[in-house]
Formats: sequence, C-alpha cells, structure tokens
Amino acid sequence: MRTVTASAKELKVNSVRLIQELEALARFTSVEQPEQGTAVTRVVFSEDDLHAREWLKQRARDAGLLIREDAVGNTFFRWQGTEPDLPAVGTGSHIDAIPHAGMYDGTVGVLGGLEAIRALQECGFAPRRSIELLLFTSEEPTRFGIGCLGSRLLAGALDPDRADNLRGAERGQESDTLSEVRLAAGFQGPLSSVRLKPGYYHAWVELHIEQGPLLERAEIAVGIVNAIAAPASYRLEVGGLGGHAGALLMPDRRDALCAAAEIVLSIERNTKATNAIDTVATVGTCDVYPGAVNSVPSHVTLQVDIRDIDPKRREAVMGAVRRDIDEVAFSRQVKVTETLVNADEPAICSEHIVAMIAQECREHGISAKEMVSRAYHDSLFIARIAPIAMIFIPCRAGVSHRPDEYAAPDDIVNGTRVLAATLARLAMEQ
Ligand code: GLV
Ligand code: MN
Ligand code: MN
Repeated sequence: MRTVTASAKELKVNSVRLIQELEALARFTSVEQPEQGTAVTRVVFSEDDLHAREWLKQRARDAGLLIREDAVGNTFFRWQGTEPDLPAVGTGSHIDAIPHAGMYDGTVGVLGGLEAIRALQECGFAPRRSIELLLFTSEEPTRFGIGCLGSRLLAGALDPDRADNLRGAERGQESDTLSEVRLAAGFQGPLSSVRLKPGYYHAWVELHIEQGPLLERAEIAVGIVNAIAAPASYRLEVGGLGGHAGALLMPDRRDALCAAAEIVLSIERNTKATNAIDTVATVGTCDVYPGAVNSVPSHVTLQVDIRDIDPKRREAVMGAVRRDIDEVAFSRQVKVTETLVNADEPAICSEHIVAMIAQECREHGISAKEMVSRAYHDSLFIARIAPIAMIFIPCRAGVSHRPDEYAAPDDIVNGTRVLAATLARLAMEQ
C-alpha cells in the first residue's frame, strides 16, 4: 500500500464502468423518451429518485464505502482515511433532475466522484484524510420551490422550520410539505440535525458539466471554477378580474395574464439593459387561473430566476422591474405581490484548490482555464463552511436542462481523473 499522492497520469479511470453507470442511472425515470437524446425527469423523493438512491448505495457498498443518511436525505459515502478523525475531503453533486432534463447534470459529479474514489483505491492509494462522496437532496427547485435544499441545510443557510414547511409549487393543487414528504420517504429526525459541525470538511471539490458553451468553443478540456454566480428567485402574484371571455367587454377588463406578460417583458428588457454578459433572468413558470380558453385570467403566478456575479447589479435590475410593475399595476388596475424565495451571495473559490487543479492539469497536459459558474450548484453553500473549487467539463453546444444535453466520454474521464488526483492531494494535506 502506498501513501504517496496519486497523480492524474497513473490513475486508471474505468471509463466503461463509468459510462455504463451514467446510462444505468439515466434509466431511473418514467418520462417518455424523445427521438434524440435521453430525457430524465427525477423529482426529489419520487419513486424514481428513491430507486436511484438505492441503486447508488449498492454501488457505494460494493466499493466498501461507509454510508450515512441525514434527516433530509443527504447521503454521505465515506472512504475512511488512515487518520479518520481529521476533517474529510469532500466531493459530490446531485441526481435529481428537472422535468425533461438530460442525463449528465449532477450525475457526472456523483458517479465521477464514485469512480474517482474507486480509481484511487485500485491504484493502491491510502488517503490520510477520509474522502467522502456526498449526494445532495434536491439541488433542483422543482418540488419545493427552492434550489440546493440539502446543501443549504448542511451549511446552516436555511432555517430548519422554514424548510420543513416548504410546499411544492405543484400546479394549482395543494401539495405536501417537505416534512411530510421526507418522512414518507424514510428520512426521520429533526432538520436541525442536518447542519454540519464547523470544520467538518478540510476541502471540497465538485465535478460538473459546464452547462455553457465556453469550454467547447475554446476547445479546452477542463474549466476551473473560481466563482459561482449569485442566484435569486421571486414569486410574483398578479391579481386581476376574471370573467366570461365573450361577455366581459374589453374596456372593463383587468386581465391578469396581459399584466403578467408586460412584467415578463420588463424583466427581459431590464436585464438586457445592464449590457453585462453575467446578468441573466428567466421567467420559467406561469400559472394561469382559472386556465380555461373561454375565461379571462383572474390570477397569474410567475416564478422569476435572476442571477449575476454582482449581487448589487442583480438588485438594480429588480429595482427597475419593480418600477415597471407599479406602472403596470396602475394602468391595468391589477394587484401585484412579490415574494422573495431566496437571494444568495456569490461564492468565491479557494485560490489554493484552484491552483492545485491548475497544476494537476498542467503537469498532465490537460488544457484548462479558470471560469465563473453561471449555474448554481450545491458548492455555493458548501463554500460557506469549507474551501471549495469546482471542475467543469465541456458539454455539447453548452446545452443543459434538455434531453439533448451531452458530455463526451473522453471529457467525463478527463474530469474524473483530475478530480481523483485533486482529492488525493487534498487528502494528504496536513
Ligand atoms: C441548477 O440547476 C441551476 O439552475 O443553476
Ligand atoms: Mn440543473
Ligand atoms: Mn447541476
């Protein structure tokens, strides 16, 4: 048994096993398959999610990892180090997927993390610090309206009572609370127990597809994330006057959907007006009540996602949108209420880990560049409790959250190799 640092070159990542596992995991979904690509819908705590978790636990048991689940279903897979009391080195990501997503978002970080551990085991490496793979619960906001649920709780960034009372944004129907859903899924205990002790992780690295086009365009194999943009989301409720689509005269209308449409366009206009490539905003859902072709919409709910590397500029966009909302509310005689769902700060990555990844890439002829993550990740919250960095790999045309999302096996293997070598270096640190 060797205790030296394993370098990227000597590590043998089993690409066949890794790609087969990615394909196997993609089958835990009930969504109809398109002609091209692989569609995955895996909402947290759905049957598909719970079966996928069982499948993953078996893979981890086969690798001899110790398994712990917390009250929200975050699952820790630990490869014990020779000094197990030292803070561990962590890696991981998520396997939940938004409706009609692809098969690589999150899963590359989970299965790449598992493969990195197995590659280190198979080359005889013995880590000083434990290396821990972490499967986060609900990185995606699909079910409970807020992203990074598991990592927020781990970092103490979300009040446990508020979390337990979160309800889904399920269209037009009353949905269960997180508390009800997690207990039914078998995750017991108070959410206050999820928070990690200070110093739990010595360091953290997440592998992920870029979800943007920059690496592919520049023909660069690895992106080293030095900052993660700050996301915020809002719910806007527009209340107007409903009625018969034939009988309610146009001058008398207070159509909530027409008002919402103006608000959506205001969000787009004000975001573009920043002229900043890093400012992005999306209205991703629009629920119309009562939702009948012959009924004037009386109530509309919009969900807004707005992100920036500069939270002040993000706030300035929302300020301009609010001024437009006041005008729309006045001119169309509707009532608009805004609820802040979350507004997070950006994360700055550890210069030390960023430099370590860069060195690993340089030494082994893997092209790399530093970049910002415009997508959010659980690492955004782990950054509050540990030094972090992320390793990005290219994905075809930058496509993500779509069935045609694709990452090439060579890129997945490269990223996994760099991840393994970085985990090994961190695990040997004093
Ligand atoms: C994560 O899926 C995000 O929306 O950035
Ligand atoms: Mn995603
Ligand atoms: Mn993701």
